[in-house]
Amino acid sequence: MSPELLYLLRRRIGASGPLRFDEFMDIVLYSDPHGYYRNHVPGSGFDYETSPTLTPWFGRLVLQELEAAWEQLGSPEEFTVLEVGAGSGDLAAAAVASVEGGFSEALRWFFVEPIDTVRRLQRFRLGSSGRYRWVESLSEVEPVTGMVLAHEVLDNFPFRLFEVGGDGPKEVRVGTARHHLTEVLFPIGPEVFDLAAPALEHLEEGDRFELRTGVGSWVTAAARVLERGRLLVVDYGATEPEIWTRHPSGSMVTYRRGDLGIDPFDNLGGADITAHVNFSALERSARDAGLHVLPLQTQKAWLEKLGLTEVVADLRRRAVKAQAEGRHADYLRYLSERSRVELLGARGGLGDYLVFTAEKSAAVE
Ligand SMILES: C[S@@+](CC[C@H](N)C(=O)[O-])C[C@H]1O[C@@H](n2cnc3c(N)ncnc32)[C@H](O)[C@@H]1O
Repeated sequence: MSPELLYLLRRRIGASGPLRFDEFMDIVLYSDPHGYYRNHVPGSGFDYETSPTLTPWFGRLVLQELEAAWEQLGSPEEFTVLEVGAGSGDLAAAAVASVEGGFSEALRWFFVEPIDTVRRLQRFRLGSSGRYRWVESLSEVEPVTGMVLAHEVLDNFPFRLFEVGGDGPKEVRVGTARHHLTEVLFPIGPEVFDLAAPALEHLEEGDRFELRTGVGSWVTAAARVLERGRLLVVDYGATEPEIWTRHPSGSMVTYRRGDLGIDPFDNLGGADITAHVNFSALERSARDAGLHVLPLQTQKAWLEKLGLTEVVADLRRRAVKAQAEGRHADYLRYLSERSRVELLGARGGLGDYLVFTAEKSAAVE
């Protein structure tokens, strides 16, 4: 728990009243220097693993997707990946380490990372190849041909929190009681009523749901920066109405060192706060931004198309061969690599993540 963050929050609340939940998240996740993301990136030894941090095979398989997109665009001289919120940079490291041929000449990789400490970590991890560039936001980049890629990022975008009350929907805000933070329910504002209405149809008194109001402008920025190419978003979440009916109490959770929690006030700045991504809302935003939306798929189905099954079979063959030849260390290495690769497609886990793709073939007016 960061006492500095608590002090900052109490001062803000004292000055202008209870904060909306997205304002609270902005402070505890992103503020300088104590916000959670200023000091944590996912990966081995950190709070939790993601697909790219689990095994380089994720990045190698994503490279297949990137190369196919490049070919589909007619193999342009430059193909730029704009990776938003790349964390430790493992996806780029694995993809770039295995790129070959003409695509290697064309591939440029830009990291869109608002946090300077994370940019430094990524530079340290990836070195100074001319292929890489770092920017703070998509708006800094001139339109490119390529792909905007966001892996497990949208679930961290700040959201507003609502509760269905007996006398109408309420917004959950963050106030203070003595020296602590506490939830305060406010009548819902007219500016979000239309956005909240579809959820209300599926929920009952006492139920909760989240709304990310910042996704639309982010998708608009992604569409603008793509002259031609794709937006690829991989994350956990669901479409409507499952996003509400599956989690009637809301899907917000906290993570700290792999432990799941439910109290966002418990460890300010020391725990991640996240909620499922509403892929229907993402799709509407993409359409509004002039993108052509492709069918949503699970990570399992997507990675299998990219060769996941063959990778698992190959690692199994190598393990059997190593065992037969008495190379025990190799045998154990292949076994453990195979089990990590299998996790990428596991049902009830990473394999259920959703993969959203939208295309842009010409400039949006
Ligand atoms: C859960 S981590 C995922 C990191 C990495 N993509 C992975 O899968 O291992 C989410 C990252 O998104 C970053 N992030 C959140 N909002 C962002 C935004 N608006 N623009 C760029 N990065 C953002 C955070 O700083 C954090 O590093």
